[in-house]
Amino acid sequence: MSKVYVFDHPLIQHKVAMIRDKNTTTKDFRQLVKEIAMLMTFESTRDLKLEDKTIETPICETTVKMLSGEDVAVVPILRAGLGMVDGVLELIPNAKVGHIGLYRDPVTHEPHEYYCKMPEDIDKRRIFVTDPMLATGGSAVAAIDFVKERGGKDIVFMCLIAAPEGIAVLQEKHPDVDIYIAAKDECLNENAYIVPGLGDAGDRIFGTK
Ligand code: PRP
Ligand code: URA
Repeated sequence: MSKVYVFDHPLIQHKVAMIRDKNTTTKDFRQLVKEIAMLMTFESTRDLKLEDKTIETPICETTVKMLSGEDVAVVPILRAGLGMVDGVLELIPNAKVGHIGLYRDPVTHEPHEYYCKMPEDIDKRRIFVTDPMLATGGSAVAAIDFVKERGGKDIVFMCLIAAPEGIAVLQEKHPDVDIYIAAKDECLNENAYIVPGLGDAGDRIFGTK
């Protein structure tokens, strides 16, 4: 069974509170999503491997710890997952970026794919699939199916707000994928929106409504 990490860091909680507010502007919303993604990346990369390297400081030779070269890919679920990419890249600037285009049918809430492009060596990378919202879990499950079909093995899912229903579905369908969440909410409403949530993440990031 996968692990679920819910961040209780005060900075993350404060910024999540701000994006929930319906009066937060598109510009601020976008900036906050990026900042939360960056803070979550800091926490969710704790287990990246280090190796000893010998370097020279201006004073003497010494052995230091450096990342062992485990390569990273960030794979946003379009559209809203795009809002988290720059936050991840701030901390891991040489990560490659894949894209998965999915939208939820407004009536059935089933995900539909319209685009998928992965880095060629996706099978050798630690993959961060990003999407601000984990509601029914349909989009996350489908996106991770696509990543695995294209060879992805070492996958984590990072989202801002998750409903218990979506967490359960994702854990059942992809028990090998750990889930990083900024806030776990109460439930879904009759339109499969997260309550209290933040509304439609894509519309709020891109200002389309
Ligand atoms: C939203 C969100 C997730 C999905 C979550 O995207 O960004 O991808 O819904 O819902 P689920 O867990 O029930 O699948 P949406 O389909 O609205 O597309 P958009 O990002 O293009 O707005
Ligand atoms: N997608 C969103 O953008 N928000 C929700 O609450 C659920 C799905």
